[in-house]
Amino acid sequence: LNVLVLAGGISHERDVSLRSGRRVADGLAAHGHRVTVREPDATLLTAIREIDPDVVWPALHGASGENGALRALLTAAGVPFVGADAESARLAWLKPVAKTIVSRAGVDTPASVTLPTETFRELGAVSVLEALGDALTAPLVVKPAEGGSAQGVTYVDDIADLPRALVNAYTYTDVALIERRVTGIEVAVTVLDTGAGPVALPAVEIVPRDGVYSFEARYNAGETSFYTPARLTDAVTDRVAQVAIAAHEALGLRHLSRVDLIVDPSGTPWFLEANVLPGLTETSLVPIAIEAAGFDLGAVYAGLAERAIR
Ligand code: DAL
Ligand code: MG
Repeated sequence: LNVLVLAGGISHERDVSLRSGRRVADGLAAHGHRVTVREPDATLLTAIREIDPDVVWPALHGASGENGALRALLTAAGVPFVGADAESARLAWLKPVAKTIVSRAGVDTPASVTLPTETFRELGAVSVLEALGDALTAPLVVKPAEGGSAQGVTYVDDIADLPRALVNAYTYTDVALIERRVTGIEVAVTVLDTGAGPVALPAVEIVPRDGVYSFEARYNAGETSFYTPARLTDAVTDRVAQVAIAAHEALGLRHLSRVDLIVDPSGTPWFLEANVLPGLTETSLVPIAIEAAGFDLGAVYAGLAERAIR
């Protein structure tokens, strides 16, 4: 196949995408495909005309590739691409929207509120805390309502730290998500569909060295320990796989996604988010899961390219 891999972009996760894109391109090339790697810049449509790819493999994270805009452009250009369609990507990308959709499908997701920056500025932190009342008490997690790689995410153990956490989230986007923090086992489940319907790969358990799976803990080798499969009972392992597939399907995702969950001490998996185009770097979770399942990375990336044109 003639494959155009898109990597980079202008999102906050540009560097992560360059790393993911390089690995995808290497894997595809190792499987005999003709690969061109490009930035999704203003020359994109011209490049598509010149390269005339059979399929586009968007190794783009963040707003560049996960919010649906680029996927709408590729759809308009009439070129098949790997991963979610524009509309599903958009819904999954907006964390509060994704939580609502999966929760309607019967999946548990932690209680939360969204707070636009204007409301925060008008009301001040004190009113916000009062309005939350008993509905949402510490420990909390504050995150940008859209974004990735834990950028702008803060754990709030003391409610007095909420304003600062909000300001951190607003650095990335205008709406913050304030979510109850479920403590338990943090797992990431790769959902893969190369033709026979979505399957869940072994869950990867995440144990960051200092307890927080931050940007640094994600992209520096050795900062986080992974257990694959996750250290869960067989019954909970099955439940986690079912919940991941239920979330993937409820959101209408295609081909590949990664569903992030916390398993509480009772064994209930809580949905945090679904990643439209999860990280594929040397330290990322999806490649760990693919290899733990006994698959070859390049074969899977090539299989997804073939799936996208069928
Ligand atoms: N947003 C990053 C790339 C991830 O989900 O892995
Ligand atoms: Mg994410």
